[in-house]
Amino acid sequence: MTDPAFSEQEIKESVRKRYAGAIGKSPGSCCGPAPSQPMQIGGSCCRAAPSDPMKGKFAAVAGYGDEELKRLPADAVQNSFGCGNPLAFAGVRAGQTVLDIGSGAGIDCLIAAERVGPTGKVIGLDMTPEMIERARRNAREAGATNVEFRPGEAEKMPVEDGTVDWLISNCVINLSPDKPAVFQEVARVLKPGGRISISDIVAEDLPEAIRQSRDAWTGCLAGAISEADYVKGLKEAGLRDLRVTSRIVCHIQDRVRSQPAQGAVWQLLLRDLRGSWA
Ligand SMILES: C[S@@+](CC[C@H](N)C(=O)[O-])C[C@H]1O[C@@H](n2cnc3c(N)ncnc32)[C@H](O)[C@@H]1O
Repeated sequence: MTDPAFSEQEIKESVRKRYAGAIGKSPGSCCGPAPSQPMQIGGSCCRAAPSDPMKGKFAAVAGYGDEELKRLPADAVQNSFGCGNPLAFAGVRAGQTVLDIGSGAGIDCLIAAERVGPTGKVIGLDMTPEMIERARRNAREAGATNVEFRPGEAEKMPVEDGTVDWLISNCVINLSPDKPAVFQEVARVLKPGGRISISDIVAEDLPEAIRQSRDAWTGCLAGAISEADYVKGLKEAGLRDLRVTSRIVCHIQDRVRSQPAQGAVWQLLLRDLRGSWA
């Protein structure tokens, strides 16, 4: 991948701005699959079209239980922007410490808070102040006293070494311009024997026009690396026994064909693909 035309700082600012703007405005999925069309790899992530049949329904499709969702503040569910359900694959137990990287409006933290119970602790970390504020409000509404939300960046987490039993993250690391730093931090904060469960977007062979698009970065696409590089990065940071537990595969050209007019990212894809795949 060639370097994008913008700096790491610019990427972060754009991501922050996008999520600050998204909160409260566009309930539904960030990168969520539609029932008839599996994973939208990035795409117009974080902006459900007004007519999007997935609006407000992503959390259920991602495998969150109905009962579980009913117990949460509606705002936390409606403002979920994930691309999976990391807790579905995590054996979180009472008394443990869970860290959620890029916790957004708090959906996964609030579910984790129930699982760890009063003797456990959940930390949500997010670099967008508006998300932290919203997550704190949702935690208050849920009456969750064992969860705290810390402002901070995944590349330099404000978390003590060796203190986390389960690190979870839902559709965040693809947005980081410095993934090796995030992977190092993941390894640093885990307790010996600590585990991770991460949902994220990976992508193979993205067209260069997408890699260079700021919209595609903030839309969870341009920053996506391949599954092999993702696993390699985690291994290089010192994590062991890694397993991909579930995949939703989407062929971009199918999505482009079925939704040709969804914003700047699809326009770019169309421009790049026309003549080769279209
Ligand atoms: C796609 S949203 C997912 C939010 C949440 N995990 C969920 O499932 O609803 C990405 C979130 O990660 C945060 N984020 C992105 N890059 C980050 C970074 N480098 N460090 C900390 N937070 C980050 C954004 O502010 C945003 O809240």
